[in-house]
Amino acid sequence: MGQMAQKISKVNRGELLKALNEALSEEWLAYYQYWVGALVAKGPSRTSIVAEFTEHANEELDHANQLGQRIIELGGTPVLDPKKWDELARCKYDAPTNDWIMELVKQNLVAERCAIARYQQICEMTFGKDYETFKMSAKILKDEIEHEQEMEDFLADYNAGIEHSGEKIDDPADKK
Ligand SMILES: [Fe+2]
Ligand SMILES: [Fe+2]
Repeated sequence: MGQMAQKISKVNRGELLKALNEALSEEWLAYYQYWVGALVAKGPSRTSIVAEFTEHANEELDHANQLGQRIIELGGTPVLDPKKWDELARCKYDAPTNDWIMELVKQNLVAERCAIARYQQICEMTFGKDYETFKMSAKILKDEIEHEQEMEDFLADYNAGIEHSGEKIDDPADKK
């Protein structure tokens, strides 16, 4: 961290680096949660849900990249050993042993809610004290809020379908 950057920072650097490395570990786990889920998923609307999983996976990876860069700027070391991810992460990886797509949506929804709490925490920690980290965290928070909404929408769509189950959809061309 440069001299002036250090002088203006009013945040406890040790605490901030700890939170950033925890978040970095969580992003890698979130990436894998979506990535492997996209591979194994089975069930209704698979094509569109898997496309969304893949998009989210790429965004989680981008978050990991932003966190890693910021840790370096702050003079810290990004977590070097993947074996530490589970230990550091508060938002845990949940192996998709059940490949039913709605179970995968639920797992990712839990992870997104945890991520929202994480970035809210980092925003509160840095607001008015470290604007660069605040700006980054607020941007990631916005993405996680959108991710949560999308997972909720998949569940709502599926449940709306259940409510209408029993109603067979005829092709309009078959109407006599
Ligand atoms: Fe993320
Ligand atoms: Fe996310």
